[in-house]
Amino acid sequence: MSLSSIVQIVSTTTKDVDSISLPHQLLRDLEEHTPVVVEGTVKGRQAPKTSNDGKRQPVASGKPNLVTAVEIKLESLRPLNTFPQDLMASEDKVFPPEQRHLQIRLDKSIRDALRYRSKAARFIRDYLADQHGFEEFETPMLFKSTPEGAREFLVPTRNPGMAYALPQSPQQYKQILMASGVPRYMQIAKCFRDEDLRADRQPEFTQVDLEMAFASGEDVMRTIEDTVKALWSALLDVKDLPEQFSRLTYEDAMSKYGSDKPDVRLGAEIRRIDYMLPQDLIMKLGPHTDPYVEVLKMSISEDANETRKFVTAFMDSPEAQPFIQNPDGQPGIFPFDSRKPLQGLQPFGFEAAEQVEEILSLEDGDLVILQARKRAPFSGGSTPLGNLRLALHKAAVKQNLLPKPSGFAFLWITDFPLFTPTDPNTDAEPGQGGSAGLTSTHHPFTAPKTPNDIEMLLTNPLQAKADHYDLVLNGTELGGGSRRIHNAAMQDLVMREVLRMSEARIQDFAHLIEVLRAGCPPHAGFALGFDRLIAVMLGRESVREVIAFPKSGKGEDLLVRSPSRLTEEQLGTYHLCLKQGGKETTS
Ligand code: AMO
Repeated sequence: MSLSSIVQIVSTTTKDVDSISLPHQLLRDLEEHTPVVVEGTVKGRQAPKTSNDGKRQPVASGKPNLVTAVEIKLESLRPLNTFPQDLMASEDKVFPPEQRHLQIRLDKSIRDALRYRSKAARFIRDYLADQHGFEEFETPMLFKSTPEGAREFLVPTRNPGMAYALPQSPQQYKQILMASGVPRYMQIAKCFRDEDLRADRQPEFTQVDLEMAFASGEDVMRTIEDTVKALWSALLDVKDLPEQFSRLTYEDAMSKYGSDKPDVRLGAEIRRIDYMLPQDLIMKLGPHTDPYVEVLKMSISEDANETRKFVTAFMDSPEAQPFIQNPDGQPGIFPFDSRKPLQGLQPFGFEAAEQVEEILSLEDGDLVILQARKRAPFSGGSTPLGNLRLALHKAAVKQNLLPKPSGFAFLWITDFPLFTPTDPNTDAEPGQGGSAGLTSTHHPFTAPKTPNDIEMLLTNPLQAKADHYDLVLNGTELGGGSRRIHNAAMQDLVMREVLRMSEARIQDFAHLIEVLRAGCPPHAGFALGFDRLIAVMLGRESVREVIAFPKSGKGEDLLVRSPSRLTEEQLGTYHLCLKQGGKETTS
């Protein structure tokens, strides 16, 4: 019997109220949602009387029916608890986060998602062990603060001034396991990052984390492809994923889609066209005198008026604000309309209008968008035009102008820059705190891709490519990994000479340097974001829908009311004092 089956309890009544049996009375008085022990006789369930012959038929077992094929003839009933009347509970009620327990109890879609999650975890563990020889290890949750990249959560101790840090990932321990002679490590690991939260981000989340000794990035990518395909086949019955997933370099992904995690199902590829545009149009697009200008086409409708109506409403909506306020200039918007002079592309001038019409194969109702951006290499995860592409597509799907994209478009993104210039205006990620104006694009343990990239470490580090690979599915970054630096001298060089970290920060990684020095074999690995994986498999909008106790947008758990204010006593125990308004206090 499945846990979500319904068992029918049968209790016969009599017209004589005085002779109603106690169990029957208890059953009648029972509040919904009360846990009970029932004793009785189990028998085959009879179907309801049919109107034709008035006879009942036994119910066939094994039918896809929530109600079991057996029922219980009630003999005794004992409530094990009560369900208070002040709690309103029904299946279609949306409970506030404070009543997550009732939401889980009554909302089948959450329970199904959690069950699915458990099934996926079991499948992945077994598959990686049985088919690929991985062993599961647990690594410590009480780790130490190291400048790996993301902002950490600290755990103060009773030892004055001493704290652990919760791991942002098991990265360093899994590399230590490689140096410890473990050939293949895996773990379904909890990770903690104190970062801005979004629909696909939680402060604590789960990774399917793995690492392989004597392996290249290619070996890891093959292992992940195989495991993901097996998972899709087992849980989604999707058996036609490609033998190998497509690949795009970071540079190509950013220039074609304005994103390092593109949803390639949407089409609407971006291309550079500044070389064909008249100067006066370029000057109108933004403040830069010699910008890159990019264009994209989105086939919104066959009717140019419909397209015009759509895009005008979009540009008037709050969603358009970031694009209107883009310091590189607003997007230039042109519905292609054969009834207008130069089909609505008049500002392009005759020659450019003709060229653009040809290269984009424009038809009536197509939306043409121009966007200028500073003449500089790509950095970061997206461009404003890439974001606009997504926002317009989403709005068009919402209004049924475009179909909702379907299917699974897996994609590897490779050749990321090893380093990214630090942006002093963002407090998103602290990076490694070096003084070179650089931060590791992923983490400081990523190996340069080729000998040429090694050479560039000291001469032109921003040009050096990483042996890093992200797995993207339908516009979501499902996971990322890399071949690691396994040579202590190289790791020291990256931290000391390239990132120019202080001696104190380098010492935070002394354990790793020491471990690499001890003949650590070459190794490479990967981590799949498990919450994102389940959300994408189930087509859910947010990872919160596939986590039993997710944190709110402010990082709070409103059911247990965490985080909670430290008491005087705790402050004393951990030798802490609070700073308020710049003044130190003890409460
Ligand atoms: P990375 O930081 O790319 O790599 O993380 C791997 C994957 O974890 C998921 N993820 C998150 N999911 C929910 N909430 C978050 N806050 C969050 N942050 C990350 C994403 C991401 O792709 N140690 C490396 C892996 C490696 O190099 O082997 C790491 O953690 O799906």
